Amino acid sequence: MVKRIGILTGGGDCPGLNPAIRGCVMRAMDYKFEIMGIREGWKGLVEGDAEPLKIGDVEDIVNKGGTILGTSRTNPFRKEGDIKKCQENIKKLGLDAIVAMGGEDTLGVANKLGKKGISCIGVPKTMDNDLSATDYSFGFDTSVTVAVDAAERLKDTGASHRRIMVLEVMGRHAGWVALFVGLGAAADWVLIPEKEIEIDKMCEQLKKDYDRKKTALVIVSEGAKIPNMNGAKEELDPFGHMILKKRGIGEDIANIIEEKLKVETRVAVIGHIQRGGSPTLFDRILGTRVGVKAADLVAEGKFGQMVALQGNQIVSVPLEEAVSKLKTVPDEWWDLIQVFFK
Ligand code: F6P
Repeated sequence: MVKRIGILTGGGDCPGLNPAIRGCVMRAMDYKFEIMGIREGWKGLVEGDAEPLKIGDVEDIVNKGGTILGTSRTNPFRKEGDIKKCQENIKKLGLDAIVAMGGEDTLGVANKLGKKGISCIGVPKTMDNDLSATDYSFGFDTSVTVAVDAAERLKDTGASHRRIMVLEVMGRHAGWVALFVGLGAAADWVLIPEKEIEIDKMCEQLKKDYDRKKTALVIVSEGAKIPNMNGAKEELDPFGHMILKKRGIGEDIANIIEEKLKVETRVAVIGHIQRGGSPTLFDRILGTRVGVKAADLVAEGKFGQMVALQGNQIVSVPLEEAVSKLKTVPDEWWDLIQVFFK
């Protein structure tokens, strides 16, 4: 019988985490569970750093960005002895189950811990929207909304100065963020990691746009790859992912455009601005629903599952399935945006 659960948030923060924590805690109270907030993701479990979560901690956080629990990119499978520490701390803290809110890395750890007999439930969180088995994850809507606003600001200044503007957005190895920002802000070209960059085709299109309106906007995903540019600036995070922001793809693209078209081109990198701020209504509702469902799954003893949004239903799917492959942009979405490159 579950008496006490621990909640943690791992990986990059994103708007929607606080509504999800709130949903999970408030629902867990219906089941009379005691709830511990584990600080800073898996790091808190390795270090036994946790505090009780009460109604006063969560009742008014639905509109708050970030995560009240803190987060980190700690991978407890990386350093010898850390898993043992996690197991010991689970015992010390008296936790019967863990609700892990995170992306592929955090949930990958939850999946592996499940195989070691630890009862885990996953809640999908990522602004990249790249988790399989869920149609959307909270964080995505807010970060795209923020980036659309930034893109529109760039369009104003670009039009005034007769410049081409390049906006580099996050999204890691999936192009969802760039694609949605491109569609939402009526960009003239979009570059995503799933498609090889065609420099000549891009420049041809931008020339047409520039000749017509004396400005143009390009959205480039941080993970997009220029052919034959063999990764100079490569640095890895604790899960072995390249820190893409450091590659400076936006700047490279802006330089190429300026050189080829002889048009003054400026670049802006939105970076972590995309990840902060109050969650949109969509992310508040989605976060709330998946948080509540996570507590329901604990009560039902359905461990090793991740909560997911499929259509408009909140369902559960095996964690293994959710972390087995990334959800990248399929051709139908790529074809959709081509309609607007004229
Ligand atoms: O996975 C979310 C994300 O924002 C990615 O889009 C980005 O590549 C990465 O995190 C940045 O990580 P950090 O906050 O560690 O710099």
